[in-house]
Amino acid sequence: MSSDASEELSDRVNNRSHRPNSAAFRDFVASGWDRAPLTGVAPLPAAEWTPARREAVSRRFPGERIVVPAGPLKVRSNDTDYRFRAHSAFIHLTGLETESEPDALLVFEPADGDGAEGHTVTLWFRPRAGADTEEFFSDARYGEYWVGPRDDLETMTVRTGITTADSSTAMDAVTKDLGSVSVRLLRGADVNVEQAVDQARAQVSADLEASEAGDDELLEYLSELRLIKDDHEVDQLRHAIDITRKGFDRAVASLPAAVDHARGERVIETSFESAARLDGYGVGYDTIAAAGDNACTLHWIRNDGVVRSGDLVLLDAGAEADSLYTADITRTLPVDGTFTEVQGKIYDAVLAAADAAFAKAAEHVEHPVLFRDVHAAAMEVIAQKLHDFGLLPVSVAESLSEKGQQHRRWMVHGTSHHLGLDVHDCAQARRDMYLDARLEPGMVFTIEPGLYFKESDLLVPEEFRGIGVRIEDDVLVTSDGVENLSAGFPRTRAEVEAWVQELAPGRAR
Ligand code: GLY
Ligand code: MN
Ligand code: MN
Repeated sequence: MSSDASEELSDRVNNRSHRPNSAAFRDFVASGWDRAPLTGVAPLPAAEWTPARREAVSRRFPGERIVVPAGPLKVRSNDTDYRFRAHSAFIHLTGLETESEPDALLVFEPADGDGAEGHTVTLWFRPRAGADTEEFFSDARYGEYWVGPRDDLETMTVRTGITTADSSTAMDAVTKDLGSVSVRLLRGADVNVEQAVDQARAQVSADLEASEAGDDELLEYLSELRLIKDDHEVDQLRHAIDITRKGFDRAVASLPAAVDHARGERVIETSFESAARLDGYGVGYDTIAAAGDNACTLHWIRNDGVVRSGDLVLLDAGAEADSLYTADITRTLPVDGTFTEVQGKIYDAVLAAADAAFAKAAEHVEHPVLFRDVHAAAMEVIAQKLHDFGLLPVSVAESLSEKGQQHRRWMVHGTSHHLGLDVHDCAQARRDMYLDARLEPGMVFTIEPGLYFKESDLLVPEEFRGIGVRIEDDVLVTSDGVENLSAGFPRTRAEVEAWVQELAPGRAR
């Protein structure tokens, strides 16, 4: 088909369209639909918990306008988008779930009037369009005919408990009166909103550097607001971990099929992810299904390798619930149901490091324990074990000193990170709220030491090469210690062997 020179490039995306355009069609397609309001609308599970979170934001930034965008749809290629995932701060404050709500904005407006305190909060979003609109049948990105119905203003209020407004005028509300009201914008979520706010700031000659510093402070605060999980968040994390547990069973059961497949790692990945998709929303991060030497590539997500008899498979995977809380679990599995002697001793070294980290965390009931102490406890064991294996070129004490750290060659990552809506949650928190913070009830983090001996590592004996082990659990700090939220997963060497032997009997030796 030849192209029409007068055709706008931006319209060519419609080249393949056969959509009729007659007046008769337009009248006809707009008529005859049952447009009763959406039924069965109930408050979201998080709706009871979100008011306290919004009140905390209001107290922290009195008299200022606060803008938290969900973020826009993102193009994956040409005219197809990625599945939508809102910014975690927006999810935390609205309680919205799954794939809602692209382009929405949560705006805290300082209350009006003398002596007024607090904010009025409005959720600006794109409400359901009428069947008589062009959008309804012709907009493949937002139209109901293409992507399904959206909420009305009223139903969104019922679900979230938040006052709602049509986002077509949201930017006026965000940028008005900037000479007299200061606005803080959560940056990093929606570049369109950032540009509009920056322009409006420039028009009133605002100090742009100071404004951006104020924005950064908002991002930092919204990250820190999630450091202590409320009961609903902990329930959601438990739920995500339960789904993940089922997915791991499926993945273990797929080991025999993986060995028989040219891309065996994909068999394991797919087995996990299909379970996560069936029972939850999806996965919280790209699954790492790494056999043999690939386990030593920390973020191996290509998962296109073969799985050989005798290999260890490192599976790092987490299901994400509808609420978008995610698990983050790693188990290292002997494909044939039995660890070799050298695999077993490396596994036990990592397990001992994990146990030391758990024990350190539990000490918080007797004396303050800092987040960084948990990592340090694991590192003491890792350094000692590497010394026992004859691999450390210096003493354990020298390696553990700040000037040494040679042991980190075989475990360059940290032992723990906070976990929640983001797999690496609360990442913008200040150091003294994160690494240097005391453990407190309600914190949820991972404990995930590992040892990675690459095939190409000339400083370890040949029998170590191509072995990577990580053991990762999700931990809740409680008032009387810590709870391993992933305690339902086989963890010791014997438990893991029994697991593989039971679910993948075809390979047991
Ligand atoms: N799955 C990424 C991590 O463990 O941090
Ligand atoms: Mn992790
Ligand atoms: Mn992980």
